[in-house]
Amino acid sequence: MLQSYALRRALTDGKYRKIFVERLTEPLHLNLISAGVALFGSYPAKVAFDLVVRQQYAFPILFAAESARALGLKRIAVLEFGVATGAGLLNMCELAARTEAATGIAIEVVGFDTGTGMPPAVDHRDLPEYFQEGDYPMDFEALRRSLPGRCRLLIGDVADTIPGYLASVGPEAPIGFVSVDVDYYSSTVRTLPVLDGVPDQYLPIVPIYLDDVGMDGCNPWNGELLAVAEFNAAHALRKIAPFNLLRSKRIFKNAQWIDRMFAAHLHDHPSRNPATAKRAQQAYIQNEYLR
Ligand SMILES: C[S@@+](CC[C@H](N)C(=O)[O-])C[C@H]1O[C@@H](n2cnc3c(N)ncnc32)[C@H](O)[C@@H]1O
Repeated sequence: MLQSYALRRALTDGKYRKIFVERLTEPLHLNLISAGVALFGSYPAKVAFDLVVRQQYAFPILFAAESARALGLKRIAVLEFGVATGAGLLNMCELAARTEAATGIAIEVVGFDTGTGMPPAVDHRDLPEYFQEGDYPMDFEALRRSLPGRCRLLIGDVADTIPGYLASVGPEAPIGFVSVDVDYYSSTVRTLPVLDGVPDQYLPIVPIYLDDVGMDGCNPWNGELLAVAEFNAAHALRKIAPFNLLRSKRIFKNAQWIDRMFAAHLHDHPSRNPATAKRAQQAYIQNEYLR
């Protein structure tokens, strides 16, 4: 009785669900190998083996830094929309520091929040059965004291803070990753204009983490998915889609964050334009069947 209660509690708590439902259902040999990686692996190896806390930030920040390096850039910015008490933002700062040490790419972190919690829900599309006005307040002073120098926190409705922020983004430090955790459809609609700047303010592929697409009540007609569908319909050259083949590219395939990882494709980015895209070497396919 006690045991089944403990197991039930463990399985309803997100942390233990990750261990029991996601990790221990993976092949035993991979879990054994990951023990060695945890002890002796490099940071990229730990990210590959899902050994870093908040994998949904570790993977895209590393992806962005590696993309920046391939483009010859030295700095990027990574953004969190929806900060609340700041657990995610502080974690993002730590992961930015670890990624910076591993790749040599300098990473600025920017958080956006009302500072007073959720605004009023507009209608059913905001999923009011899950979120309501005033949820997730912030202790601004406590968070400000804890933020490292690499991080800026912009307080206000995202509709008011994004234009000023975008005006400050230059091509030398483009946006490389965006986490959207503002819960509502209406707040996500007000967040996605952060992708409306000029092409060189972004990496050509910007991973987008959509935190709130997994509840049973979510579907393409409400919440963050509806805001993404409307963004795609309104933009000819910028499209947000699920991150390509991510599950098959990952070592551990049961992790839920994989289903929340999307990518914004900037088809108008100079690196995706035939006139400006350049590669050092011409592509060639070896053919061992030729005589
Ligand atoms: C679930 S919390 C974020 C949790 C945080 N990402 C974490 O991992 O700890 C959602 C946050 O979104 C913020 N938010 C919602 N709509 C917003 C808007 N229109 N402008 C700014 N912030 C908003 C709320 O203030 C709330 O703190």
